[in-house]
Amino acid sequence: MSDRYQDFVSTSIGQLLVKNLGLPNPTALERWSGGDVLVDGLVVIGGDGRLGEALPTTLDGLGIASTRTLDDGARAKALVFDATGITDTAGLVALHEFFTPLMRRLETCPRVVVLGTPPEQRTGSERIAQRALEGFTRSLGKEIGRGGTVQLVYVAPAADGAIASTLAFLLSPKSAYVSGQVVRIGAHGATTTDEVADWTRPLAGKVALVTGASRGIGEEIARVLHRDGATVVGVDVPQAASELQTLMAELDGDHLVLDITASDAPQRIAHHLRQHHGGVDVVVHNAGITRDKKLANMAADRWESVIAVNLTAPELITRELLDAGVVNASGRIVGVASIAGIAGNVGQTNYATSKAGVIGLVESLREELDDGITVNAVAPGFIITQMTAAVPFATREVGQRLNAMSQGGLPVDVAETIAWFASAGSGAVNGNVVRVCGQMMLGA
Ligand SMILES: NC(=O)c1ccc[n+]([C@@H]2O[C@H](COP(=O)([O-])OP(=O)(O)OC[C@H]3O[C@@H](n4cnc5c(N)ncnc54)[C@H](O)[C@@H]3O)[C@@H](O)[C@H]2O)c1
Repeated sequence: MSDRYQDFVSTSIGQLLVKNLGLPNPTALERWSGGDVLVDGLVVIGGDGRLGEALPTTLDGLGIASTRTLDDGARAKALVFDATGITDTAGLVALHEFFTPLMRRLETCPRVVVLGTPPEQRTGSERIAQRALEGFTRSLGKEIGRGGTVQLVYVAPAADGAIASTLAFLLSPKSAYVSGQVVRIGAHGATTTDEVADWTRPLAGKVALVTGASRGIGEEIARVLHRDGATVVGVDVPQAASELQTLMAELDGDHLVLDITASDAPQRIAHHLRQHHGGVDVVVHNAGITRDKKLANMAADRWESVIAVNLTAPELITRELLDAGVVNASGRIVGVASIAGIAGNVGQTNYATSKAGVIGLVESLREELDDGITVNAVAPGFIITQMTAAVPFATREVGQRLNAMSQGGLPVDVAETIAWFASAGSGAVNGNVVRVCGQMMLGA
C-alpha cells in the first residue's frame, strides 16, 4: 500500500510544485533491516550529568561510534544530551549552547535524545527545570525536519544502568515514525535488566503471543518478533484461519484460531501456552476493530463489539495469564492503543473509549506487576494498512499529512516499537504509552 502523494513529490515535477506552492514535502524515512548497523554515522554526546560518563561505553556495546566534539566539516547522525545535571532553570541554557551550533550539521533522518530525571522524583527548582525539557524536545521534534526524530527519556536513578535497549531503539532507524515522545525508564516498579547476549536476537528462546496476527500491523509484529528470535504464537478469528496458518508456518511459529471475545478464550489461550510452550514471555494485544458512527446514530452492537474486542478481551486475557502463572518471569505485556484514545475522534466514541481503556490497563498494571514483568502500550497514529486504505481520500490525506513527517507510518514502525518493549534488555521500560504517529499535531 503506497502513499501516492509521496511518490508524486519525489518526482522532479512534484518537487517543483512543492517548492512553489509550499506543499508538504515528506522525506523518505530510513528503516532498519537485518544486518544493518544501528547508527550509520556519528553520535555527538553533550551535557553534564550523571549518565554522560557511561554513555560512550554503552553506545560502544551497541556498535555505535560517539564523540564529544565534532570535527570541522563533519556531520552528526545523532545527538544525545545528558540533561540530568540541570538543577535549576538557569541551567537550561545548556540546551541552547549544545544544540544550536549542531542543528545545521545533521545528516538526513537524524536522531536526537535528551536524557533527564523524572521530575516527580525531584523537588523545587530541579523539578521545574526537568519538567521544562518536555517543551524543548516536543518543539524541536516539530522543527527538525528531514525525517528527524526527537525524544525525551526520563531515567530514574535506579535504572541508570538500564538504558541500552532504549538508546538502541531511539537512535536507530527502528524508531523511524516515533517522535516527540516522553519515555520513562525505571519510573514504575520493575528495574531489572536481563543481560542481552546477542543484540541482533534479543528475543532468542522467548515465546510471543500476538493476537490479530494474520494481517496488517499484527502480521508485521509477528514478523519482527520472529526476526528478533521469538517463537510466535499467532491468534486470529476462524475467517482468517488460512492466512494465519500460512504466515505462522512461514515463521516456524504456532497458531490458535479463536475469537478473543469468546467466554472461554482466556482459558483456552492460557491452556495452549502452558501445554505447548511451557508459558509465554511476550503478550501483544494487537487484535482490534472499528465500528465508526457518531454517538447519536450508534447502534448498541457497534458500541459493544468494539469495547469487547479492543478492551475487555485484552483485560480478561491478561488477568487469566497472570493469575494462572502462565506469564514467565521478566514477561512483557504490550497493548495497542491509538491516537484516538488520546485525542478523541469524530465518529469514534466507542473506539476511543476502548483505546483510552488500553492506556488505563497499562496504568493499572504497571505498579502491580512483579517478577520483572512489564506492561507498556503503543498508540499508533495514521498507519498505512488495509484498514486505512478504506478511509475516504480527503480524510486519508489529512490524516497522513498532519504530522511532523508529513506522511503515514508503516506497520513495521509499530512492530519495531513493540519489539523494543519486548526486548530482554527492556526490563526497566515499564508503564509507558508511546505514540507511533510521526508526532501528529493532534493530542498532547
Ligand atoms: N491502522 C491504523 O492506522 C491504526 C491506528 C491506530 C491503532 N490501530 C490498532 O492496531 C491494531 C491492528 O490494526 P490493523 O490496522 O492491522 O487492523 P486489521 O483490521 O488489518 O487487523 C486486525 C486483526 O485483528 C483480528 N481480529 C479482529 N477481531 C478479532 C477477534 N475478536 N479475535 C481475534 N482476532 C480478531 C482481525 O481478524 C485482523 O487480523 C488494532 O488494535 C487497531 O485498532 C491501527
